[in-house]
Amino acid sequence: MNGKLHIPSSTPDNTLPTLVRSAPKGGNAFKQHENAHPSMINLEDFLEKRETLCLTEGGSSAWRTITQASLEEYRVHHLYDGYPDSTKAIMAMFGGFIAKWALIWNSTNLIDLGCGIGTKTPPYVRGLLDNNLKYAGLDPLAENMERDYAFVCGRLEDLKEASLDKRFDLAVFATSLDHFEDPREALLLAGDITESGHVLIWCGLHDSPLIARIDVSDMTDRVCRENHNIISRTLGFLWYSIFTWPRVARDLRTRENKLETGQPLDKLHFSYFTESELKDLLLSIGQINEFAVCPGTNSVFVSLTVGVTTEPDPTPA
Ligand SMILES: C[S@@+](CC[C@H](N)C(=O)[O-])C[C@H]1O[C@@H](n2cnc3c(N)ncnc32)[C@H](O)[C@@H]1O
Repeated sequence: MNGKLHIPSSTPDNTLPTLVRSAPKGGNAFKQHENAHPSMINLEDFLEKRETLCLTEGGSSAWRTITQASLEEYRVHHLYDGYPDSTKAIMAMFGGFIAKWALIWNSTNLIDLGCGIGTKTPPYVRGLLDNNLKYAGLDPLAENMERDYAFVCGRLEDLKEASLDKRFDLAVFATSLDHFEDPREALLLAGDITESGHVLIWCGLHDSPLIARIDVSDMTDRVCRENHNIISRTLGFLWYSIFTWPRVARDLRTRENKLETGQPLDKLHFSYFTESELKDLLLSIGQINEFAVCPGTNSVFVSLTVGVTTEPDPTPA
């Protein structure tokens, strides 16, 4: 069970802080604004005792609307592990990716930026955590304040208010980067709150060939499972060719048009990255150590060091 941080009576400076150290009251999806007293937070204690730390509420109304729009889905997914099987498989792969880079970088703790509303640690870190790798989640949605892990309730943009005595070793964005109003700012902040700018990202890409992969893989899977001989399978593929692929082709074109004209693809995200857009963004703020697109999906896993610039290749003579 979480410990709650206590406000020491010896730090009565009302001018500074916006840091709140108790669970919010009220039914708002975000927390209530409260004043509080600042004091230095010991990061090791915070992680070890699995404390809960509340930041004051920030963010534009557009961000609030978008962030709250997925709440019902989060309740099913995050609280009851009700993710689709395909998502669970990608989460397992992302867990391996985190474990690999935590080992390479010798990380002893991580902060999950946009961890969701689950009371248990998200599936992509479950099983990785022990005394050598400790976890904190950060999310602005003030649901389920009693969590099994150290939790910061608030936006990453407001974390700078908190006086932590140390930086984290590693920051993770798991399907959250495209939920930030300004992903560039979010990545730079992730670099600031980590000791060496070590950041891991799992993000969905919107390039048509990658989106088409998902359709191909789902449909091929279905035809093969539901049909067991060559004739029925051929008919199954034929059915998709005549009735489904034209629709997929049209949907892909519509999606491309929207991306080209800067229109949102849904009401749930601020950004819709293509592979080249994401790479350009990341390279403008740091060094990409690994950029791995998961086979059969549109998910990419990235290892990034914020603040390190890669020397351009010398121009060939
Ligand atoms: C798609 S969910 C991902 C949840 C979890 N990481 C997962 O993969 O199941 C995106 C999360 O980003 C959070 N988020 C949105 N804006 C944020 C911000 N400014 N700072 C921190 N988290 C934010 C949302 O509240 C939401 O829980």
